[in-house]
Amino acid sequence: MKKIIIASDHGAVDLKDKIISFLKAKNCVIKDMGVNSEDSVDYPDIAVNACREFNQGGYDFGILLCGTGIGMSLAANKIKGIRCALVHDLFTAEMAKAHNNANFLAFGGRVKYSVPVTGMIEKFMDTAFAGDRHQRRIAKIMEIENQC
Ligand code: RB5
Repeated sequence: MKKIIIASDHGAVDLKDKIISFLKAKNCVIKDMGVNSEDSVDYPDIAVNACREFNQGGYDFGILLCGTGIGMSLAANKIKGIRCALVHDLFTAEMAKAHNNANFLAFGGRVKYSVPVTGMIEKFMDTAFAGDRHQRRIAKIMEIENQC
């Protein structure tokens, strides 16, 4: 049973609801960090809240949503331990796990994707991390946190 954290700004509330329904139907446990209205908020605040909660432990991965997914991914990737992938199709969803072992996915509620976001999430969940040389590269990414 996967435990997944999800949060959005005002630009993706409907998408968040759709994703939660999809994941609950797959028996996932969901931690919904809001927001639940279209009142304007600042996405970095939401990203920090969700990533801090994720870093407490116990979650398999997280999902961050804003109008484009860009702002959320930029903010999340500033936070220690987070590898947030801004994916846009099934291939990038697969690679986000297989090569990057991302621990967050970002999507945009105002983006017209060629495949449903739920399909990309499913692809990510059904893919295994390939390890080996990719583990070495990820270790180098995480080491940047201590160097710069
Ligand atoms: C909010 O209007 C919008 O800027 C935000 O949702 C996101 O798209 C930023 O990257």
